[in-house]
Amino acid sequence: MPNSRNDWFPTPVWCFEVENQQQLNQTLLREVYNEYQVDREGEKWSNVLGWHSKNDLHKRDSFAEFTQIISKNVLEVATFLNWDLQYFSTNITTCWAIVNGKLASNSVHNHPNSILSGVYYLKVPENSGGLFFSDPRPASQMLIPPIGEFNLWTSPKVVYKPMVGTMLLFPSWLLHGVEMNMSEEVRISVSFNIGMAPTK
Ligand SMILES: [Fe+2]
Repeated sequence: MPNSRNDWFPTPVWCFEVENQQQLNQTLLREVYNEYQVDREGEKWSNVLGWHSKNDLHKRDSFAEFTQIISKNVLEVATFLNWDLQYFSTNITTCWAIVNGKLASNSVHNHPNSILSGVYYLKVPENSGGLFFSDPRPASQMLIPPIGEFNLWTSPKVVYKPMVGTMLLFPSWLLHGVEMNMSEEVRISVSFNIGMAPTK
């Protein structure tokens, strides 16, 4: 037995359960449905068969409570990571909704030019697709021995099963995607990016 083991270079994904979310979720869902009506074409990014809204939702008055919750959670992460906020501040740079109908998914991607990214879940029917993260250490897969059962140290991929009212925050460089929605109902989430701004 070794005397100790160091788990160096950990990759954090934070989960925040948002309090008193009923009213917030109703407001956000209404806004997303409204936006879907006026912008049926949407944008094309990682979405495969799904709808991606414009990316400025955080600027709307109806998103004020949501952006406050994001800022509070980002501050907790910044504190944990010892970011020195006398030299820079964090800001929400983009925010968009995703509506994935049956068979829609999101291909593997990351979010360049951001420091943190996040997602909040508004509607996640059973089997509507997990959020998966890929091992950010590609060299770790250059020779994979036969493995009985994958665990946290050996799995090349982690799948998170979304829950309504939960906000995830993760490093923007972390590759991720969304599994195919195999349910008959839509899966709805709101994503966002956090950037850095120099303090004046
Ligand atoms: Fe993403």
